[in-house]
Amino acid sequence: MKIAVNTGGGDAPGLNAVIRSVVLAANQKGWEVYGIKYGYRGLVDAKQIIRLTPEYVWDITNLGGTILGTAIKGDPFNFPVTKPDGSVVETDISDTIISNFKALGFDALIAIGGDGSLRIANMFIKKGMPIIGVPKTIDNDISSTDVTFGFDTAVNTATEAIDKLHTTAKSHDRVMVVEVMGRYVGWIALHSGISGSADAILIPEIPFDLEKVCNKIRQLALIGQDYAIVVVAEGAKPVGGDITILEKAHLGGEVRLGGIGRKVSDIIGSMTGKETRHIVLGHLQRGGAPTTFDRLLALRFGAAAVRFVEAGKFGTMAAVHSTEIIAVPIEEAIGETKSVSPTSDIIITARSLGISFGD
Ligand code: F6P
Repeated sequence: MKIAVNTGGGDAPGLNAVIRSVVLAANQKGWEVYGIKYGYRGLVDAKQIIRLTPEYVWDITNLGGTILGTAIKGDPFNFPVTKPDGSVVETDISDTIISNFKALGFDALIAIGGDGSLRIANMFIKKGMPIIGVPKTIDNDISSTDVTFGFDTAVNTATEAIDKLHTTAKSHDRVMVVEVMGRYVGWIALHSGISGSADAILIPEIPFDLEKVCNKIRQLALIGQDYAIVVVAEGAKPVGGDITILEKAHLGGEVRLGGIGRKVSDIIGSMTGKETRHIVLGHLQRGGAPTTFDRLLALRFGAAAVRFVEAGKFGTMAAVHSTEIIAVPIEEAIGETKSVSPTSDIIITARSLGISFGD
């Protein structure tokens, strides 16, 4: 067997651990593994394919990012192609990718990616490509799996940052507003906000009213807490309002969210008269070494993906269900976004701790 592996979409801590696990597990079966660089782009230019031997990957489990590189604007069904006149046109190059994949003699592809990359994988599967998916995302928004690697590391980074903001907020009697990633779901904000003892957490699943958040801040002052920490998910929006966008989608890319932290900070400042500051944690949440939890999950996903290739379970992705890694149809996983249920235990816990959701 000759198998290929690629990483697509935004990077997430743990990608290299999956790659290492795939290579070692496949090597034990006597298979050859090749890494396709920059998502599917490496299949457009065959020079961007590297042989992954056990020696090549032996020390990468703890390494953030991806040794294969990744592509956010590399959707082969809407690929930005530069025409002779210099204009860039979105073109479907999927057939070229499939014929190059076959010409290189690959028997299977292990595609590691988030919802966007899994959607692309599913389109290739429909065109007959033998693909096994491995879900990754710091956002934790992929359904059909209890969790994805990258999320735990991102939450740890955010929690550590919130911990640090407490001391400066307290010293200056300020309100610190922390904007965290997560796209259209509030998992990172919720987990880091509760663990970091935030006073308010604003998430997309619960539209907020800032008057309620300001009331919370005023109540805290009455009991002697003159500072406050507000954690805002980048996708959070006010009741009846819209999500805040930094940049519209163009050329096979995605909408960039961001800016809500500043807005919330400005409004809280003028409503309460308190000094406020905002901070955007941004890509810090995607960087650095994966936590032990993420390493182990990623290693388990990689080994499972190789087992699924052997069993011919193409069209599925590795997923955690309780204590087991199982194969679930990719089609099912991309069918819906896994969002926070406003009635879940974790929200109830936060409310019991007095955390405001601005509702
Ligand atoms: O999906 C992962 C993620 O980090 C989101 O949380 C965030 O909105 C987005 O990617 C940022 O993307 P980019 O790296 O293109 O700025």
